[in-house]
Amino acid sequence: MTSQQLLDINARYASAKALALEAAQLGMDFYRKREALTIEHKGDDLQDVVSIADKQIEAFIRERLTQLFPEDGFLGEESGSADLGARCVWVIDPIDGTACFVNGLHNWCVSIGLLIDGEPHLGAIADPNHNELFHGCLGKGAFVNDAPLKVSAATHVGQGVTATGTFHPRGKEHFIPFMEKLLAEGGMFFRNGSGALMTAYVAAGRLLGYYETELKSWDCMAGLVLVKEAGGRVNDFFRNDGLLLGNPYLVACPGVYSQLAEMIGPSLDD
Ligand code: IPD
Ligand code: CA
Ligand code: CA
Repeated sequence: MTSQQLLDINARYASAKALALEAAQLGMDFYRKREALTIEHKGDDLQDVVSIADKQIEAFIRERLTQLFPEDGFLGEESGSADLGARCVWVIDPIDGTACFVNGLHNWCVSIGLLIDGEPHLGAIADPNHNELFHGCLGKGAFVNDAPLKVSAATHVGQGVTATGTFHPRGKEHFIPFMEKLLAEGGMFFRNGSGALMTAYVAAGRLLGYYETELKSWDCMAGLVLVKEAGGRVNDFFRNDGLLLGNPYLVACPGVYSQLAEMIGPSLDD
């Protein structure tokens, strides 16, 4: 028996799915009463918002995971990290798409990913507005609800839609040059305000690829597994301490990955 089999991966996979669904319903309770939420800004960036909903959902997930798997580590957007040296580290975004959430746009989700020995191993992304649970586990495939996911078979950016995004603190200077090249090649852009959902849509073949000038690990951890299991390609997001600091991010179907990487240029691997 290998050391990996000693870990109960099935129990963790089942818990990730169940917890994402439960947390998403908690999110819906807040979302229906969102006018009552007090919105705070993180630091100086007016676009970087948070509310009690984000904090309470993360606290709920963290408490449950600690009860279920006390030996595991944790990294969450709102409450920080613990035991990052553990073999299993949960990486959580309680609400991905908070700007959508507070403005009444139905594009947000709960994202729960698990690293095992430093590699993304399983993930669950729950979108309660569309009744979609995206989930996957290394070697077991990726699914939306019960339907298997497969990336697009496209071989050129002109054959579909590509997601893109940026944020203020770092990397935005790479955004317009990429957009110009994408449009010049006959591609088309998409952004719905949730990096986790856009990643899941790449896995589902709805989008050809997704480039964000800078993303955090909790935005994409769960989705990276889905893209790999659905046959897609991902960049080396974890280099240079990407887990804690974030990095430029590209996921795509194999037929357009290189084309998108070339449009982005060297900043993808900075
Ligand atoms: C944000 C979303 C958005 C991306 C930002 C993220 P949040 O996460 O994923 O699509 O463009 O970089 O910060 O703040 O809604 O959890
Ligand atoms: Ca996020
Ligand atoms: Ca968030």
